[in-house]
Amino acid sequence: MRIFISNIKSLLQTEDKDNSRLLVRGGDMKTLPSIDNAWLLIEDGLIKDFGDMSSLDTSFNVDQEIDAKGGMVLPAWCDSHTHLVFAHSREYEFIDRINGLSYEEIAQRGGGILNSAKKLNAAGEDELFELAMQRLDEVKSLGTGAIEIKSGYGLCTEGELKMLRVIRRLKEHSDLTIKATFLAGHAYPLEYRENHEGFIKLIIDDMLPKVADEHLAEYIDVFCEKGFFSVDETDRILEAGAKYGLKPKVHANQLYNSGGMQVGVKHHAISVDHLETMDEEEIECLKHSNTIPTLLPGAAFFLAMHYQPARKIIDAGLPVALATDYNPGSCPSGNMNFILSLACSQMRMTPEEAINACTINGAAAMEVNDSLGSIKIGKKANLIITKPIPSVAYLPYAFGTNLIEKVIISLKA
Ligand code: NIG
Ligand code: FE
Repeated sequence: MRIFISNIKSLLQTEDKDNSRLLVRGGDMKTLPSIDNAWLLIEDGLIKDFGDMSSLDTSFNVDQEIDAKGGMVLPAWCDSHTHLVFAHSREYEFIDRINGLSYEEIAQRGGGILNSAKKLNAAGEDELFELAMQRLDEVKSLGTGAIEIKSGYGLCTEGELKMLRVIRRLKEHSDLTIKATFLAGHAYPLEYRENHEGFIKLIIDDMLPKVADEHLAEYIDVFCEKGFFSVDETDRILEAGAKYGLKPKVHANQLYNSGGMQVGVKHHAISVDHLETMDEEEIECLKHSNTIPTLLPGAAFFLAMHYQPARKIIDAGLPVALATDYNPGSCPSGNMNFILSLACSQMRMTPEEAINACTINGAAAMEVNDSLGSIKIGKKANLIITKPIPSVAYLPYAFGTNLIEKVIISLKA
């Protein structure tokens, strides 16, 4: 099956055959290689070739031709941090926050993550699957082609396994590339509030072996935060996960400068995510690691917190990935286009930096950067075709306007 896309105003994030940008960092993030007035050929779901329309001298034998009509073409978004499996929305807590309570205060009262856990544990697997499938279909229509999904609303063995089995079913039924993360270390259930040791034992001795036995997750994550999991507790959970081959990711430095980043780096985490609160010391620590700082400006927006210091991180020569954090508490949206706009308008990332962060660097934070996240011969043809737009900058600039004409998801990574 061959598909030919013609009349592309700009083909973004292109790579030469032998030049592999597997992760873009520092000053390089400002560069978004592209070809104006381009064409692209897909064969059996893979990018077969691409080039400049004016120098196209062969006519291909194709099964389908798509006229991009002056729209741009870029790799589908890679959203490396979500909590997309949940049973219920939490707009009443949103109203509590409007009336003056903080996210932390709501959590201390047994709301927040524990509220979602109560609802998730009462819901059936089929219902959770249907709800999550609808959300996946929505984010796909918004241009997302690969996505990471966490557990963490079960907080008991059955609930966590149920969530991860839902994610496994999503992997089987959706055409998106999906990575699963085990996040039992998300919050202490009420019955373990005074018995952290008991819950950690439950995670390590009961949940982890079962998760590993059923091959339900690629990654393990912990919410390392004051009032949630301490550095030592995070350390123990990540270490136990590693014994089962689960690679670490950490929710770090969201509400406080909690040491989450350092413990993540110590464990060679694939990524440390959130980072609303960080100093020079954290930046220094990242410089000596391969851990990808992943920023979630949607959570800062929705919780009205200060944004992550993207400029400082990039100017220190580091890479940045951007993700939605789609969840019912701190970011009830899986729209990567909005994340792109927030990154530019609130964190002063340039459009090129932000697109790098939403594509190739997001793919790196899910370890699918060898087959997704850029336009390269041999990579999977998972693409966004935009409506006709005047420039690359128009994508983050015209926030709230749907600029997506078509999303092509050909193959999973
Ligand atoms: O990444 N901060 C911890 N976990 C999620 C929020 C979960 C929730 O509020 O339900 C986050 O923001
Ligand atoms: Fe999160």
